[in-house]
Amino acid sequence: MAPEGTPVLITIEGIDGSGKSTLLARLQELLADLDPLFTREPGATWVGESVRRAIAERMDPITEALLFCADHAAHIDTVIRPALDEGRLVISDRYADSRFAYQPVVLDGILPDPLSWLRGIHEGWSIRPDRTFLLVLPVEDAVSRFGPEKKREHFENAAILERVQANYLSLAAADPSRFVVVDALLPKEEVARFIADEIRTSARSSRRRPRA
Ligand code: TYD
Repeated sequence: MAPEGTPVLITIEGIDGSGKSTLLARLQELLADLDPLFTREPGATWVGESVRRAIAERMDPITEALLFCADHAAHIDTVIRPALDEGRLVISDRYADSRFAYQPVVLDGILPDPLSWLRGIHEGWSIRPDRTFLLVLPVEDAVSRFGPEKKREHFENAAILERVQANYLSLAAADPSRFVVVDALLPKEEVARFIADEIRTSARSSRRRPRA
């Protein structure tokens, strides 16, 4: 078993409206003694601003996908790797699996095999998370948490989110040793305490992972 303090990368994933923001706020309190670095995609660096602009302006899906990937590269270079190298626990709100779940939906019909294309772009430099918590709930419950329709981002649409969530579940089924699928309809405090306990266990026992 690795010594305590071994760096660990945790990611939190789920469709829009799955309750990630509330969960992350609570994890900051529950895990404060471990002094984790909380970070996010998109937007941990200034590259995230171009991603948000691309989403708002409905840029073509390939441009949008490549900007999400650029944001990931900058995130790893300036935030994730330095923190892991310092031995810190890192918790990211969204990460590469967001690309693997969302972009194949918008790239469907544009590229022959969007998931393989996306995986290829990440290969050799991305860092594989030690553990990924996937919040799952019926899409209608997620959508009921959104604001007025005209103010929504284009992903915040039930038909898209059904497919995104199906993609997430396939990713989880293909990698059960990394993914923990969590019922997001359970009481928020129960979800937060369960995930906090699991993160503590990972932080105690994980070894450094190879690059993805
Ligand atoms: P974000 O602002 O993090 O939304 P939320 O607060 O709901 O998590 O992300 C903006 C949107 O971008 C969200 O609908 C998820 C989507 N997204 C992708 O499509 N691909 C990605 O790689 C990432 C990181 C996010």
